[in-house]
Amino acid sequence: MSEFVGAVDQGTTSTRFMIFDHGGNEVARHQLEHEQILPQAGWVEHNPTEIWERTRAVIETALTKANLRHTDLAALGITNQRETAVVWDRRTGRPYYNAIVWQDTRTDRIASALEREGKGDVIRRKAGLPPATYFSGGKIQWILENVEGVREAAENGDAIFGTTDSWLLWNLTGGTDGGVHVTDVTNASRTMLMDLETLDWDDELLSFFGIPRAMLPKIRPSSDPRGYGVTRAGGPLSGEVPLTAALGDQQAATVGQVCFEPGQAKNTYGTGNFLLLNTGTELVRSSNGLLTTVCYRFGEDAPVYALEGSIAVTGSAVQWLRDQLGVISGAAQSESLARQVDDNGGVYFVPAFSGLFAPYWRSDARGAIVGLSRYNTNAHVARATLEAICYQTRDVVEAMREDSGVSLDVLKVDGGVTANELCMQIQADILGVPVSRPVVAETTALGAAYAAGLATGFWKSTAELGSNWNEDRRWTPTWDGEQREHGYAGWKKAVQRTLDWVD
Ligand code: G3P
Repeated sequence: MSEFVGAVDQGTTSTRFMIFDHGGNEVARHQLEHEQILPQAGWVEHNPTEIWERTRAVIETALTKANLRHTDLAALGITNQRETAVVWDRRTGRPYYNAIVWQDTRTDRIASALEREGKGDVIRRKAGLPPATYFSGGKIQWILENVEGVREAAENGDAIFGTTDSWLLWNLTGGTDGGVHVTDVTNASRTMLMDLETLDWDDELLSFFGIPRAMLPKIRPSSDPRGYGVTRAGGPLSGEVPLTAALGDQQAATVGQVCFEPGQAKNTYGTGNFLLLNTGTELVRSSNGLLTTVCYRFGEDAPVYALEGSIAVTGSAVQWLRDQLGVISGAAQSESLARQVDDNGGVYFVPAFSGLFAPYWRSDARGAIVGLSRYNTNAHVARATLEAICYQTRDVVEAMREDSGVSLDVLKVDGGVTANELCMQIQADILGVPVSRPVVAETTALGAAYAAGLATGFWKSTAELGSNWNEDRRWTPTWDGEQREHGYAGWKKAVQRTLDWVD
C-alpha cells in the first residue's frame, strides 16, 4: 500500500517537492530557486522551461533522499504562485514568451483603461476582483498583443494559456504527447476571466481582454476524485501517480491550516502576505478593497469562498534590505538588528514597490521611508520593515472586519517570516490579538497534499485532517490600546505619503 502523498509547491522564487505521511508529517523535501528576470522597471518574468526543469529535479531528489519510488505515493497535488501567466505552443511545448509574474506592473495601462471604460464594476461583480496589474487577464492580453504570431495560434487552439499549475500538469501528464490542459477553480478565480457563480470562463469578461476561449484550460475542482491525469513513466516520477489536486498557494495554505469553517483565517508571510478568511459557501462581496475568491472546491461539493487581503511586498522588503541596501547580510539578521532598538524611533517604511495592493489598489503608489531624523539608525529601518509587514496585515484585518463582521480571536500564521520571533510579537502587538504558528510550518505544500489525499480516500474527511493540526508557538499582545492606536495612526499617515507618487 502507498503510505505517502507528494506535493509540488511552485512558488514565486523557488519550487519544492514535499512528501508527507498520513499524520501530515514531513518525510522529505527538496527545493530549488529559479531566476527572477527583471528586464526593466516594474517588469518581472520567469522562464517556464527553467521552472519545469527545476520541478523535475526537486521531485527526483526528494524521492531519492527518502528512498521512495512512485509506487509509494498514493497521489500527487500541485500548488503554485497564482496569476503568473504562461502561454505555450501545444505542438512543441515551447513557451511563446517568458511567464509574466503576478508582481509585474507592465499592464498598468490595460488596468486603468478597464476602469475608465466602465468595465471595472463588471469585473468586480463577476470575478470578485478589482481591475489590476496583479491578475492574469491583462498579462495574457499583453502577450497576445506583443508577441508575434500568438493571436492567430491562440484562435486555433495551438497557443494555450495556463498559470503554473496548468503548465506543470500539462508537462507531468505527457506534454506534447497528450498532456492535459486543465486548471483548478482557485487558480481560475485569479484571472479576471471566471464568473464566481458559474465557475466557468465568462464571454463578456473574455471580450474585455480579447482572449479567445480556445486558449484556456478546463476548470476542474481543486480536489478531484476523477483525477486530472496520471504522471508519465518518462517523467520525474518514472511511473504513474494520480494527479488529484491543484490549488493556488494561498488557498492551499488555508487548507493546510485546516481553516474549513466559515470565520477561520490564516495569514501567510512569503514574498508578500496573503490573509484569507473562509466565508463558507457564501460569496461575500467586499466594499473595503478585499478580493472575493474561491477558497477550494472538493469534488462536486459546493465551492467554498474566501475574502482575501493580498499584500505585494512583505518578506521581499527584508530581501530588499539585504540585496539593495546591504544593511543586513541575511534574513535572520533583520531580527537581531531590529532588536537593538525598543521602537521604530518615529520611522515608518511603506514598501509600495509594486504599488499598493489591498486594501488600497493603487498601482501609482511608490515606496517611502518617512519620519527620519538624525537620531535614526539602520536598526530603526530594520524595525520599521518588520512593522510594515505587520501594519499592512492590520490594514487588511480592519477591512475584513468591516466586510464580514468577523473579528478574529486568533490569527493562524505560516510562511518564512514566521521564523522571525520579533516580527510575530510585533504582529500580535499591532493587531491586539494572539498569533499562532503550527508545528508543520509548510502549510502550502501540506494543503496540496491534503487535497490530493482527500480525493483518493488516503484521508477520509476534513475532520480527520483537523486532528493533525498542532500549535507550535503563540504570541500574545503586550501593547496597550493607546500605544497600538498611536502607532497605527503614524502608519496611516505614512501610507498617505506614498499615494499618487507617479503622475
Ligand atoms: O498571488 C501571489 C501568490 O500566490 C504568491 O505567493 O508564496 O509564491 O510569493 P508566493
